[in-house]
Amino acid sequence: MRVLAFESSCDETSVAVLADGVLKGHITRTQTLHQAFGGVVPELASRSHLEQILLLTRQTLAETETALKQIEGVCATAGPGLVGALLIGLNFGKGIALSLGLPFLAAHHLEGHIWSAELNGKRIPTPFLALLVSGGHTQLVLVETFGRYRLLGSTRDDAVGEAYDKVGKLLGLSFPAGATIDQIAAEGNPAYHRFPQLMVGEELDFSYSGLKTAVLRQVQKLEPSEVQLHRADLLAAFQESAVALLTARLRTGIERFHPRALTIAGGVAANSLLQSAVRDIGKTYSLPTFFPDSSLCLDNAAMIAYVGEKRLAAGQRSPLDAPVRPRWSLEELREPNNSIS
Ligand code: KG4
Ligand code: ZN
Repeated sequence: MRVLAFESSCDETSVAVLADGVLKGHITRTQTLHQAFGGVVPELASRSHLEQILLLTRQTLAETETALKQIEGVCATAGPGLVGALLIGLNFGKGIALSLGLPFLAAHHLEGHIWSAELNGKRIPTPFLALLVSGGHTQLVLVETFGRYRLLGSTRDDAVGEAYDKVGKLLGLSFPAGATIDQIAAEGNPAYHRFPQLMVGEELDFSYSGLKTAVLRQVQKLEPSEVQLHRADLLAAFQESAVALLTARLRTGIERFHPRALTIAGGVAANSLLQSAVRDIGKTYSLPTFFPDSSLCLDNAAMIAYVGEKRLAAGQRSPLDAPVRPRWSLEELREPNNSIS
């Protein structure tokens, strides 16, 4: 089944074409206008989606040599995300489905992330553990099968990507700072400072606001010249601590739930330290590890097309008055069936 998909839940506008599980192409534009504000401004994000979406749709159809009459289904992210931003992609998708008389699927953004490593042709054996790490989410999920998810732990305050961005801002880096910190930290000495190991214990939740505050305190203690001199060391120490919490939770999850594989997804899944730590855990527990292509770690419509097509192909349909769902738990999802949802 050939589907056209839209993603607009935060600050990426993205359109993709996928046929029978194989990605034909996607165009993803990260909005740069938020840099001046140090974070995503919801109203500006919605306007920018509105300005971009038609253009990106035309370009994606042209680049994938797809005629509208070849499209057999339409998918769009319905949530979770920013309400105004979601409305643009969801309504645009509904409009195309309505005008072409095609089946429509309102997709879950995090279900898309969970399966994004399969877009490079691999199959992840179930049950598996998925670590979802982005600017908006930090969740450990047990994937029992496609459509059946158990949320094992989530952040009690900041998301891990948010901590990267806030620490970056503190040290004068532009937004979003995760990829830059990843590069700079590689040249630093993580032993320069030991940030407290927060949230030790057996529970599977996460917390990042304490770590962010600890970095702030340390920066305040130093002379500005020392901060400059040791910027890479501070970032390496921060990153070590940030990743240590993620891997600790992953280990506990493996020991408790005995998954058959591991995957990570979301913007922070592109992080080099996290990827190598997860590879090591995979080796320790003899579990295969799956990583999305780096271009598909960030929000994108390819992953929405992938999960949307699976549901449409199984006969599931969403009504054209399906609402946006800014908050939407993965646990509310069900396996696809021949129903309206
Ligand atoms: O999934 P995503 O595009 O959007 C959200 O749903 O938030 O993730 C963006 C987040 C930002 O916080 C960004 O700083 C972070 O992912 N990020 C990284 C890296 N690349 C992007 N964090 C750490 N290391 C990276 N290499
Ligand atoms: Zn995301």
